[in-house]
Amino acid sequence: MSETKVAAAPEQSLLPTYARYPIALVKGEGSWLWDDKGNKYLDFMSGIAVTNLGHAPQKVKEALIKQLDELWHVSNLFRIPNQEEAAHLITSNSSGDAVFFCNSGAEANEAAIKLARRYQQKVLNNGRYEIITFESSFHGRTLATLTATGQEKVKEGFAPLPEGFKYIPYNDIEALKAVISDKTAAVMLELIQAEGGIFPADQAFVEDLVKLCEENGILVIIDEIQTGMGRTGKLFAYEHYGIEPDIFTLAKGLGSGFPVGAAVAKDKLREAFGPGSHGSTFGGTPIATAAVKATVETIVGENLPQRAAEMGAYLMDELKKELAGHSFVKEVRGQGLIVGIECVEPVGPVLTAAQEQGLLVISAGPNVVRLLPNLLVTKEEIDQAVATLKQLLANAVKA
Ligand SMILES: Cc1ncc(COP(=O)(O)O)c(C=O)c1O
Repeated sequence: MSETKVAAAPEQSLLPTYARYPIALVKGEGSWLWDDKGNKYLDFMSGIAVTNLGHAPQKVKEALIKQLDELWHVSNLFRIPNQEEAAHLITSNSSGDAVFFCNSGAEANEAAIKLARRYQQKVLNNGRYEIITFESSFHGRTLATLTATGQEKVKEGFAPLPEGFKYIPYNDIEALKAVISDKTAAVMLELIQAEGGIFPADQAFVEDLVKLCEENGILVIIDEIQTGMGRTGKLFAYEHYGIEPDIFTLAKGLGSGFPVGAAVAKDKLREAFGPGSHGSTFGGTPIATAAVKATVETIVGENLPQRAAEMGAYLMDELKKELAGHSFVKEVRGQGLIVGIECVEPVGPVLTAAQEQGLLVISAGPNVVRLLPNLLVTKEEIDQAVATLKQLLANAVKA
């Protein structure tokens, strides 16, 4: 250590990329978290839609412990049975045919963008490269995925950004018609814009978008990173719309908290990702895919999307009933267990007041309180969260 280096507090050894709350969470079980001072919290954010099975779910824990005893890591230059079985579980429960595993949501979207371009350029030989995305979208923080993201704030100070991205208003088919060309490789969208404020896509818009893309040789990429793994009341949100994306992307809830992402593609895209075209040292390791297998088996085996639909309907009804007439609340919207309470002013103070009352919720954009409980949440836990929010939002008056 250099003589001049001043001893710093441990938290100063981190780059300050997050505005962190002064709470250190150290233990979790089901819907509950405890901090280092022994305070207990009802978790209605699930690590931002990650712990869809609650904290430390037994089956995933057992699968991980078993795998830790057997084998941690091998190169993707070898066959990895867990990876093959996890991929098969995903393809046999979705419209996709082949999976690429990676480590995060941004990497899954990065893979999807690369796969779409490479399919157009190397399989169809048409030179298409443009990716169309939507205003207020969020697709990640790598250079390509922050460029794909339709929000200026994530791009500031990172120029020059990769070329070939265009943005249009969400739910606006005429804007899409106006922007597509013989350079368009793919359209990429979330079916509920999550970080952007819990805005669902219209049924007619999605149907028209898929048709327009089919007619024009454009691939459809659905970002299911926040909406996937049962959260919206179906295993994948695209099922609500009766469509089959060319590529969809997963992360967050895919490993119940173990970091893993995936891009899932239709059969025709297989040849675009031949040996050497893309890769990741850690993508789909035996440990990561043990977590994926146990997670998918639990979600599918216990019919948790259906449970999310029922509990989501209950949550939404209770919120609408209890918050009706509150001058601070504008709208309650969402699907399944991804719910937004849009307020008339920024909700930062509501989030911290909720923490003080033992409830963890998150925002989606400045004015929306976002609720993301786990799929096993109980009615009693929902009642408790709604009662806390009712009291806090009643006290929150317009400035
Ligand atoms: C819709 C969507 N796409 C992509 C991402 C990026 O995922 P990650 O943070 O795992 O890179 C997120 C994260 O919030 C997301 O919500």
